[in-house]
Amino acid sequence: MSLTVIDRRAAFGKALDAERAAGHTIGLVPTMGSLHRGHLSLMLRAVEECDVVATTLFVNPLQFAPTEDLATYPRDPDGDRAKTDDAGVDYLFAPPYAEMFPEPPVTSVSVGPLADILEGAYRPGHFQGVATIVTKLLSLAGACRAYFGEKDYQQLAVIRQVVRDLSLPAEVVACPTVRDFDGLALSSRNAYLSPKERAIAPTLYQALVAGRRAGPDAAAIRKAMVDTVARHPEFTLDYAEVADPETLETTTTIAERHDARLLIAARLGRTRLIDNIGVRETP
Ligand code: PAJ
Repeated sequence: MSLTVIDRRAAFGKALDAERAAGHTIGLVPTMGSLHRGHLSLMLRAVEECDVVATTLFVNPLQFAPTEDLATYPRDPDGDRAKTDDAGVDYLFAPPYAEMFPEPPVTSVSVGPLADILEGAYRPGHFQGVATIVTKLLSLAGACRAYFGEKDYQQLAVIRQVVRDLSLPAEVVACPTVRDFDGLALSSRNAYLSPKERAIAPTLYQALVAGRRAGPDAAAIRKAMVDTVARHPEFTLDYAEVADPETLETTTTIAERHDARLLIAARLGRTRLIDNIGVRETP
């Protein structure tokens, strides 16, 4: 089946209803476009595991603060269409803003403490915007397997929480972070980096790896991460934390056989970079 591009909510719902009626399982890959190999890894996994795959492309204003980069967020609709087609995706749902929100939305999904820590502390309202749009997309799509990247680890935890609490008919599938040759996690926002910034950007991943090596004491892990980033004064570190992999509450020691997530965020010029790894992951 070749790619069908849909820009109307009703047509999207109808197409997926017809697929389910034909006995097909649906894989859903929500994105904000400007697609790279990280996004494509989600789509390829969905194509492997589901009969029919739908990608959504919507740059969601609800998750950007007024001071953030909504206006300049990278956009590449033609490239995105070609890439989804090449990946074997069946439907690309790319609604204009007025189709998603014919009236300014007054209802939103608020997520509780998970949304206020780490990224949430630096981006107030961000996860409420994510939770609201993902709830809406899952509601439009209906029963499906929904694919999300570990690159945005806290987002993944927030979405799991929403799906659980609201009994949404989706099975959340987590996919590993895709990195560039030098360890930098792929991100649409990497396009903002100057060549000089791009050269030092992998420091964030190096900090995570140094942290993992310094374990299991959480203070030693944090110190290793902070020291690694401090080698380049161009970075402003927002946080470098060791957290429970589910609640994301910060921990002081990692008990034997227990897992933990190392999470880091820093600003480099006008670009904000985030990354994370599991403390027991093998590189
Ligand atoms: P976006 O940043 O476009 O990312 C879409 C999906 O791709 C997310 O699940 C994200 O975690 C995943 N992804 C991004 N970079 C990745 C990488 N390097 N490796 C693996 N997966 C990666 O995340 C969003 O959009 C939005 O918040 C959204 C969920 C679509 C709601 O608006």
